[in-house]
Amino acid sequence: MHLHKYEKIWLTFGFAALIIFLSVVGVSAFHQGHTPAGGLQKVDPDNLESTPPFDNPGVHEKKDGSYEVAVVAEAFGYTPGKIQVPAGEKVTFKVTSKDVTHSFSIVDTNVNMMVVPGQVNEKTHVFRDPGKYLIVCNEYCGSGHHFMSMEIEVVDQ
Ligand code: CUA
Repeated sequence: MHLHKYEKIWLTFGFAALIIFLSVVGVSAFHQGHTPAGGLQKVDPDNLESTPPFDNPGVHEKKDGSYEVAVVAEAFGYTPGKIQVPAGEKVTFKVTSKDVTHSFSIVDTNVNMMVVPGQVNEKTHVFRDPGKYLIVCNEYCGSGHHFMSMEIEVVDQ
């Protein structure tokens, strides 16, 4: 088989680019320890009713004055469906799924997590502005995917 000079150059370039990209991903994942949001916390998706904090979904104030919100996603909604949190406080969302992969994306913020059964993902956010925030599922999860939403009301303290 005869390879033209330019084909060889482009093959070399393509192969080198592939190695560089895979190395970047590998170093980031294994050396720098990048994990899903919240680390690698595991949970049994069939036993959420008896696993804290998912046995009591909702907003919980912690001793240091910050808030933790436990959310369970399942086709096609979130539990709880509506919450209230104060403006200006740290709010840590802990989310997991009972069934399939969903997502937890708070519109107009940078909170945007995958929600994977068996895994706990978490993200902390401070809401500066009071108002209503919409949470949507942006991971296609079935026929009711487009109905899947939740609401956060951020109130002045
Ligand atoms: Cu849940 Cu899409």
